[in-house]
Amino acid sequence: PLPAKFERPLTVPPVMKPVRKDQNADYYELVQRLGDIEVLPGRKTQVMGFDGRFPGPTFETRRNRRAVVRIANELPVPTSTHLHGGVTKPESDGYPTDLVVPKGYPVHELHGGHTEHMAKPEDYIFNQVSKVYDYDLPQRAATLWYHDHRMDFSGPQVYYGLAGMFIVRDDEEDALPLPKGDKEIPLMICDRSFNEDGSFNYPALDRRLKSLPGVEDDYMDGVLGDVMLVNGTPWPTHDVANTRYRLRLLNACNARRLELALSPGPKEGAPFIQIGSDNGLLEKPQEMKTLPMSPAERFDVIVDFSKFDIGTEVILTNLAGADSTEQVMRFRVTRQESDASSIPAKLSNFERLDRSQAVATRSFDFRRGATNQDHDWTINGRGFQVSTYEAEPKVDTVELWKFTSDFHHPVHVHLGHFQVVSRNGGAPEPRDAGWKDTVDVRPYGVVEVLVKFTDFKGRYMIHCHNLEHEDMAMMVNFRTT
Ligand code: C2O
Ligand code: CU
Repeated sequence: PLPAKFERPLTVPPVMKPVRKDQNADYYELVQRLGDIEVLPGRKTQVMGFDGRFPGPTFETRRNRRAVVRIANELPVPTSTHLHGGVTKPESDGYPTDLVVPKGYPVHELHGGHTEHMAKPEDYIFNQVSKVYDYDLPQRAATLWYHDHRMDFSGPQVYYGLAGMFIVRDDEEDALPLPKGDKEIPLMICDRSFNEDGSFNYPALDRRLKSLPGVEDDYMDGVLGDVMLVNGTPWPTHDVANTRYRLRLLNACNARRLELALSPGPKEGAPFIQIGSDNGLLEKPQEMKTLPMSPAERFDVIVDFSKFDIGTEVILTNLAGADSTEQVMRFRVTRQESDASSIPAKLSNFERLDRSQAVATRSFDFRRGATNQDHDWTINGRGFQVSTYEAEPKVDTVELWKFTSDFHHPVHVHLGHFQVVSRNGGAPEPRDAGWKDTVDVRPYGVVEVLVKFTDFKGRYMIHCHNLEHEDMAMMVNFRTT
């Protein structure tokens, strides 16, 4: 049976504390380990967690202030950690074969299944026990997240808990009168399924996540769960004052697309005022009736609970869900408070890209295909290969990238941030606003983006963020020069 809805309070993950600071950087230590936590009431779920938690602790960082994070791996499996949306050096980007290997791990077991085809033994980098990820953060204030990116096994390892929020702040945003403190809440939304004993039910072919990657045939399109979690709690409830709240929403589902709405809606005005997207503030706030979010996308929104009567129970619903996944969490407007926050008409100095800036045009076609003996997911007709490059954009230039697709594919670009300039030959949708790193490409859809690469030269990737598609070869390298 599924757990009861709206019974347990929302929790917010603890903020990561630096172990030391100097004039150059803040230094953090994070340990990946197994943890037994109570996700379902009265049962234990074993998670693979950063600090044994799910979600992992939240980072609070600042633009241009280096965050140096040592990640030690005490799990039974190798890992690679990617800062999603981070403008990071290639060595710290969490490349899938740049692994942190736990003590005594038999690395010879790594080469099998899809791996044999996609990565050769010599393609691996083995960091024994820990690795230092050095994040320069030359980027605008934004809601980023960090998660596992291990070759062939990102799907199960994120599903088992290796994900957390990573917030970048800056002076421009700090100067705005937006809701702060307990009125600013990160909400990591994901779906999971559980076995009777409380353990996660992920249909991996090899439940030990050792040599044989992939999922059972029925899950080729992606793994969906029937329990909606917010910050790791099933259908939580949160008591709010009748004031504005800033919600930093992340769709952390492996494969589920969400369309969030409020039920009931406010007495007047739009349910959501969007102020930011994947990579920071929009130029101006925009009213949104619903929030369509594909996996890995972030929406930074204000909900004004003064537009509801005290005592109202407001359900955050998912119009794209069915049955148990139609509801996400509940807010209960319980108290009267004065509100010093407001939403300025202009949010940021926004650099709008223009087609005339593009120095190159490239196409990426996302499609089901055969790369191995079996079916897989391909980009431009090929499955992932560690040693080939699909593009070589120059740093500090803008390119026009065109994404086409046979199915729903949330397309994610590492390093570069982009602006959507067209959908299916027409204007972008409101959901496409702002600087982004992930865009929902729909079946037979065509999305054009202007992407800008800055700061770092080296190997990065573009891939589908349906994690099962990613694990089944839907990734490609590019190299910034
Ligand atoms: Cu969030 Cu390459 O991934
Ligand atoms: Cu996909």
